[in-house]
Formats: sequence, C-alpha cells, structure tokens
Amino acid sequence: MRKISPSVLDVKRDNLIEYINNLINWGVTNVHYDIMDNIFVPNVALQFKEVKKVKELCKKHTMDIHLMVKDVFGYYEMYKNVGDILTFHLESFNSYQEFLELVALAKKDNVKLGLSINPDTKVEQLIPYIEHLSLVLIMSVYPGLGGQKFIDNSLNKVKELKELLIKSNSSAIIQIDGGVKDFNIKDCFDSGVNLAVVGSYLVNNFSKETVDKLLK
Ligand code: DX5
Ligand code: ZN
Repeated sequence: MRKISPSVLDVKRDNLIEYINNLINWGVTNVHYDIMDNIFVPNVALQFKEVKKVKELCKKHTMDIHLMVKDVFGYYEMYKNVGDILTFHLESFNSYQEFLELVALAKKDNVKLGLSINPDTKVEQLIPYIEHLSLVLIMSVYPGLGGQKFIDNSLNKVKELKELLIKSNSSAIIQIDGGVKDFNIKDCFDSGVNLAVVGSYLVNNFSKETVDKLLK
C-alpha cells in the first residue's frame, strides 16, 4: 500500500471542512489529525471539538489521530470514538506495563492502535510493542511543528522497521511524518512507507494535481 494521509495542522481553521472534503473528492482516503498537549510538545494543535466537527460534517474517510501527549489514558478516552486509528508516542509511556493497559482497553473498545517514535528513539525499542500495533509511525522531524526539514536518517529507520515487521509476522502499516514533499516521497515509499503524512507541502500547493503527483 502506498497512500498519503494529509495533515491538516497548518490548514486555516475556517477552511478545514472544505479542505478535507476537497481531498476526499480527489480520491484521498486518509487524513491525519495532530493533537498536542503543550506538555509532550511545547505547542497546541487541533482541539477535540474541531476534530468532532470534522467527523460530523466531512465525507467519510479514515481519520488517523496522532496524539503528541503525555496523558495517554485521558486522550484515549477523549478520542476513542472519533478516530479510526489512534497513534500515541512510545516516549509518552512510563512503563511497558502501562502500554499493555492501553492495549487491553483498545481491545475491549475495538480501537486500532498505532505507536510513534521520535527521531532519537531507536527502531529496536519497538520490538516488544509490535505485536499489538496496527500502525507504526516514524517521525522524520521532531514533533511539534509543521514545515520542518526532513531528517534523512528516517529512511534507514523505515527500512529497519520493515525488516522487523516481516520478522515479527506483523501486518502493521508504516507511516512517516514530517517534511515529506514531492522530491522525497518516492524515496519514502521505496524504503517501505505505506502511508506518508504530507502537511505544509500540500497546504501550500493545494490541488488535485499535487495529490496525483505525490502518488505517482
Ligand atoms: C508535526 C506533525 C506533523 C506535521 C507535518 O509534529 O506531527 O503531522 O503536520 O507537517 P509537514 O509535512 O509540514 O512537516
Ligand atoms: Zn503528525
């Protein structure tokens, strides 16, 4: 699978619904929603009421929610009925046991879980987590802001992750997030990415042609 999941972090809020409906009309099936708590990252992003409004007013699509937050359980409760897949950060958990508690909740609620790692976190740290995940997100920038430069080593991490998933017999999808543009998206896909988050590049070049170009 090779798809994009546009991030709407940098979309003007009064244009959000129209932006997303346009994407869906152009064939996009996934949209990426960034949530920040001003603790795990020094910033805030979309608010719960905005994401809920999108769910109510936009055409149906897969909502992937990227939660850059410390209070994993609080945000899980908030978003479990809104998102199709909830992606937390490995760095947010205080222990592996705590992660397993979240897995148990998600199983009970039938919620898909993803896990993200920051640029300084090694892929091998994911090993014990993989069997519980539907998605693994490699951050290709330090989380917290759109419009940053892609960290090249992220592609090595994607390749390493792909091998690990094969070895673990996992069907989790590989997502990358941060600094993805027309000139590096093919390298991402060729390295093993299934779902590429594209934020500011698409906001600044918003057209069906750009969407098509990214997937070529
Ligand atoms: C950054 C967010 C990203 C961001 C990507 O912390 O997780 O999803 O919106 O934006 P670009 O593509 O501009 O790097
Ligand atoms: Zn994101």
